[in-house]
Amino acid sequence: MYRVIYKSRSAQPLNWDIVHDITDKSQSNNGTCGVTGVLLASRSHFLQALEGNFESVNNVFRRIAKDERHCDLSIISFSVIDARLFGGWGMRGIGAFDFNKTIESELKNKYGEEEKGIRFPLEEWQALAMINDIKMIRGLPSWKK
Ligand SMILES: Cc1cc2nc3c(=O)[nH]c(=O)nc-3n(C[C@H](O)[C@H](O)[C@H](O)COP(=O)(O)O)c2cc1C
Repeated sequence: MYRVIYKSRSAQPLNWDIVHDITDKSQSNNGTCGVTGVLLASRSHFLQALEGNFESVNNVFRRIAKDERHCDLSIISFSVIDARLFGGWGMRGIGAFDFNKTIESELKNKYGEEEKGIRFPLEEWQALAMINDIKMIRGLPSWKK
């Protein structure tokens, strides 16, 4: 199995309508081909992890890369993995633009700031650490969906 993580810039300021549009479609598409993952959205950027077999991850990534809702895609990692980190998540959307002030400032202190939002890292270990930090935080609006 493989995991690809990338960061991109959104074509427009991000909100829940955009994130839900993407994750609703992704849930059904990814379920069909066995791809799981997570999609983080700050005010200006996406950070996404996709995991599954080589062909499926490639096919999904190829479609995503052509999507005009984002640009400036940077691959953070493409790794062979023994097990999924996001099994059970067809595609979980997390709106980091919607965190409460305390959580937002803690994450900004730890990972930095970019365009007034939390900066998404370009290093794999930091990206995974950030996803893990967010997973550990309970009671965020983003976990409702
Ligand atoms: C940041 C971002 C992440 C996306 N993630 C996925 C995804 O995980 N799976 C998926 O099928 N489409 C994803 N999409 C949407 C695809 O680019 C594309 O619109 C969609 O797969 C087309 O599906 P369809 O051919 O069934 O209409 C994403 C788009 C963006 C902008």
